[in-house]
Amino acid sequence: MNTSHDKFDLILRGGTIYDGTGGEPFTADVGVSGDRITALGDLSAASTVDDIDVSGMVVSPGFIDVHSHDDFHVLASPDVEHNTLQGITTVIVGNCGFGAAPFDTAAKRLGELFELPAEIEPWDGYSGYLATIDKFQPSLNVAALIGHNTLRLDAMGNNQEVPPSIDQVTHMAGWVAEGMDAGAVGFSTGLIYEPGRYSTTDEIAAVATVAGGYRGVYSSHMRNEASGLIKSVEEAIIVGNMSGCAVEISHHKASGSDNWGAIERSLELIDNAREQGLDITADQYPYTSSSTRLAAVLQNGTLTHGKGGLGRVEADDVLLATCAERPEYEGRSLASFVDEWDLPAEDAAQKILDEAGDHVYVVLFMMDEGDVRRVMAHPSTMIGTDGIPAGSKPHPRAWGTYPRILGKYVREEGVISLQDAIHKMAAKPADKFNLPGRGYVKEGAFADLVVFDPATVIDEATYEEPKTPPTGMPHVIVNGAFVVRDSVHTHARVGRALRRGRE
Ligand code: CU
Ligand code: ZN
Repeated sequence: MNTSHDKFDLILRGGTIYDGTGGEPFTADVGVSGDRITALGDLSAASTVDDIDVSGMVVSPGFIDVHSHDDFHVLASPDVEHNTLQGITTVIVGNCGFGAAPFDTAAKRLGELFELPAEIEPWDGYSGYLATIDKFQPSLNVAALIGHNTLRLDAMGNNQEVPPSIDQVTHMAGWVAEGMDAGAVGFSTGLIYEPGRYSTTDEIAAVATVAGGYRGVYSSHMRNEASGLIKSVEEAIIVGNMSGCAVEISHHKASGSDNWGAIERSLELIDNAREQGLDITADQYPYTSSSTRLAAVLQNGTLTHGKGGLGRVEADDVLLATCAERPEYEGRSLASFVDEWDLPAEDAAQKILDEAGDHVYVVLFMMDEGDVRRVMAHPSTMIGTDGIPAGSKPHPRAWGTYPRILGKYVREEGVISLQDAIHKMAAKPADKFNLPGRGYVKEGAFADLVVFDPATVIDEATYEEPKTPPTGMPHVIVNGAFVVRDSVHTHARVGRALRRGRE
């Protein structure tokens, strides 16, 4: 292509391009005009408004966080710094069954953690949510899953421990149709949580079938990631086959030391289902600890019998992450309350909930490092943060997921190659969730780009100081504009709502 007389808005010169396909990297200049990559090659004769030398750096497609809970956060804190500073240019929200609509029901869960600015009005359904994203424009792009827990609460109110009536299933299905019509990417469940834990496979499949009709994705935080891991993967496969949805296993892991190693078998199940033609993949954050609601820890017997979805975890391995009513508790281990109050672990946890209300989140140390590596290296795995950036000591994954993989698991430990990692972070998610024009560095694609130094990039977020941005990731570009430049957020508000199958 002759680009000698072209004029660009921006040229990134001399970087090493990892284009997302998983193929070998190559050296090229990247020309950006408006919101698109318009040339890739030798642009030494071309002129440009903004010109930066990125030789020695990697130029990668912007990361697509397939497991986000930032439905409200992107509007409450539109710079979305924990995401943008680690190279995320698109979030897929609505995971674990908690979605953004209908508004009043959604706000009870997500609005408690992330208060919306006064100028944002309650939205009407998913079409209203996506329109609000387009109007208010956070710094990154947002695609949405429709959350089952939210719909079930809306349909069934306080009477949750029973199967839904036909009318209630129809009510849920109606919202899925509304969301998929508006451009949502699929439907999600959170089956260790209230009220999803009361739903049967048939109920889930019935509602998911509406999303399947649009070729949507079924993303599931499964019923059990401990002793019931295998049964739970089987359930997700059944829902996929019954509904016509592609399947996404959320945060694939084996929880609790009794279950370590079970990941071999769950990966095999995924491989077998793929061989039989089901589009099934999974996502992962690169830590041996998880994070969830303290209420769910108790509901699943995690501190006692350990037969629930989280397995068995000791009080020593539980850290208070987010506790708005008692911020002084944040950062302390549950074991320290057990000692101070002289109570069994379960009673100490209940006392914290009694004092601080329902919106308490904890970090749980419960995974095996070998399992984490096996899941990461498997071709079915993509990357997602599962970040919940509320309170003073949230899980560090909200700030560190992507640079931790690039620094620790790629450079230091060689668990996966750099081209593989970038494929899992960008292109594979764009293909899976049907986001055309995203996820690749190529001519004609949207200019969602990350520039990082492969020799130094690393996460800095720790359990003690979780809100620490990474190092070695100087530039992040969304729709052709810098949202992070020289490691500083520019406050550019250039994100868009992404709708399934549409550019
Ligand atoms: Cu989640
Ligand atoms: Zn989850």
